[in-house]
Amino acid sequence: MKRTTKSLRQAKGNSQIVCITAYDTVTARLADAADVDVILVGDSVGNVVLGFDSTVPVTVDMMVHHTAAVARARPSALVAADIPFGVAHGEFSELLKICMRLMQEGGAEAVKIEGGIEMAPTIARLTAAGVPVWAHIGLQAQNVYQEGGYRKFGKTEDEKSALFAAANAHEKAGAFALLLEMMVPELAGEITKKASIPTVGIGSGTACDGQIIVMHDILGLSPKKPSFAKVYADLGSQAVAAISSYRDDIRRN
Ligand code: KIV
Repeated sequence: MKRTTKSLRQAKGNSQIVCITAYDTVTARLADAADVDVILVGDSVGNVVLGFDSTVPVTVDMMVHHTAAVARARPSALVAADIPFGVAHGEFSELLKICMRLMQEGGAEAVKIEGGIEMAPTIARLTAAGVPVWAHIGLQAQNVYQEGGYRKFGKTEDEKSALFAAANAHEKAGAFALLLEMMVPELAGEITKKASIPTVGIGSGTACDGQIIVMHDILGLSPKKPSFAKVYADLGSQAVAAISSYRDDIRRN
């Protein structure tokens, strides 16, 4: 069954929405064969497969290229693409053109935007223009240089109120879902209860309507994975063993 923003909204409350990243056709096919609900072409493509230290160097062209590769798998899962660093803070007409590229050239069915309450008016304009928006709050990896690293969000009363306000504003602005990254689990649970749109968590406990994970982290393909990501298979070691067997076959001859 083809997943849509509508079917995701209908899944609110069942804690069963399964989301995972993919950056190419091969991994998108794997994710789809496993019957996930959403494939995110995350800007984590930068640090997970392109060799950058963070998501900041990822450009619009890179996102379009990787999104198109995922969409060519024609998955039943909804394909969402990240809006890369800086873009959502510029001119609205430019942002709209970039969403058009991601949807028309890339085949994305939704975009994900990192941002607090300041991003709500932009989300409202995008949704009015027919762009489905998944709003991403809590840890925003694109702010890594501003923050000086990665950390848990929602520990202080001020931060808690700001995150509540952002979640509420994004829902009012028309976002079809909220992504809650590295948030204190109790806060993620409270936001989930209050919101009428689905929440998808990562490193934010189990009370969200769904979860997202970076595929390479759970397949043993990431040298640096976050501690909350469970490794379900060690494909990295298996690949090295397989390539070594190939090497031995060649060198024996
Ligand atoms: O870019 C990404 O993969 C993400 C996930 C970590 C949620 O935003």
